[in-house]
Amino acid sequence: MVAVTADPSAAFRVGDRVEARIGPVAHGGHMVARVPVGEGTDQTSVVIFVRHALPGELAIVEITDVAKRFFRGDAVEITEASADRVQAPCVVAGPGGCGGCDFQHVSLPAQRELKAAVVAEQLQRLAGLDLAVAVREVPGATDGLRWRTRMQYVALPDGGYGLRKNHSHEVVEVEDCLIAAPGARVAIAGDPPARETATETVRDRQFEVAADGFWQVHTGAPEVLVATVLELLAPRPGEKVFDLYGGVGLFAAFLAEAVGPEGSVLSIEGDPRASAFAKSNLADLRQAKVRAGRVDRVLTELDTFADLVVLDPPREGARKQAVDAVADLAARKIVYVACDPAALARDLAYFAERRYRVTEVRAFDLFPMTSHVECVALLESRL
Ligand SMILES: C[S@@+](CC[C@H](N)C(=O)[O-])C[C@H]1O[C@@H](n2cnc3c(N)ncnc32)[C@H](O)[C@@H]1O
Repeated sequence: MVAVTADPSAAFRVGDRVEARIGPVAHGGHMVARVPVGEGTDQTSVVIFVRHALPGELAIVEITDVAKRFFRGDAVEITEASADRVQAPCVVAGPGGCGGCDFQHVSLPAQRELKAAVVAEQLQRLAGLDLAVAVREVPGATDGLRWRTRMQYVALPDGGYGLRKNHSHEVVEVEDCLIAAPGARVAIAGDPPARETATETVRDRQFEVAADGFWQVHTGAPEVLVATVLELLAPRPGEKVFDLYGGVGLFAAFLAEAVGPEGSVLSIEGDPRASAFAKSNLADLRQAKVRAGRVDRVLTELDTFADLVVLDPPREGARKQAVDAVADLAARKIVYVACDPAALARDLAYFAERRYRVTEVRAFDLFPMTSHVECVALLESRL
């Protein structure tokens, strides 16, 4: 037998079951359990990242994956349940089921508390920020269901549709995904890019977007994010604003209205299809312009300044090169919209090196039933 102190990854194999007291939530939708293994002088403990559990619970955990320094597992039986546990509304949620929703078994207020803990932990660990964060409910889906405006299914050989299991290519048949909004745009994985367009309405404006192109995914997201960006940046007539990773022009449109014809808004977007839509969506606002291209490259070429900036990068964040290019604009205020708190925290640390300090972080429950959360951070120049 292998001594587990020499090789803790030998402690369990896939399929083993172990009783574990569940510890705190971690980024990624699982909870951390530290389980003692070995005996006598050989005793040590290993970390299992457990899905379908809640902090404080006692659970039987089935090992689903063995990595070098940790294990993954599913809570398949709950011996002592948390008061925050509820019956999952979805029949394919749970161990071995659909990988889409991590938190169906958690009450909605407790889901938001778990996400707040993850945001606070990422900001502390990766950016050295000690901030109390509350995750706010978003209008449009108070039961946490029917909010998703975009769905991507996988076609099954028998003609049905499904969604993938967690960390797997296996597909679970799903007839009616409970988080899909009525009339959600549906794409099938592997299909060629859509030719159709969709029209989205926000406040009094219409936005054309490719049916499979990026659009904020929660029905209530465009309004809540536009309102937050405008409130935090507080643009004044005549100001020069940059909307980075601008998509089809959602923030640029309302920022352009706020700065008026004496001001200017430049939206930079990397996807040629989205930037073409942005040009036509903003055609009535002559103070709004669109540049297609990568944010770091376009900003370096332009070598200019700004009063205000909003950036809304994809999940992996902006990264150092783009953060440096944004900081070079020397804006008075920067609003950073982020769908991954870890990527946000890493980029906030880069902004701190450039003398931008975080003065506020708001978090929104734009992805109920999942572990995902949207954050909006306000940065102000210390120069
Ligand atoms: C999270 S979306 C935000 C879109 C827009 N702000 C909105 O709310 O609709 C991120 C956008 O960044 C674009 N993108 C990704 N990497 C980029 C890069 N390096 N430079 C410019 N745009 C990029 C994507 O095509 C996508 O449209």
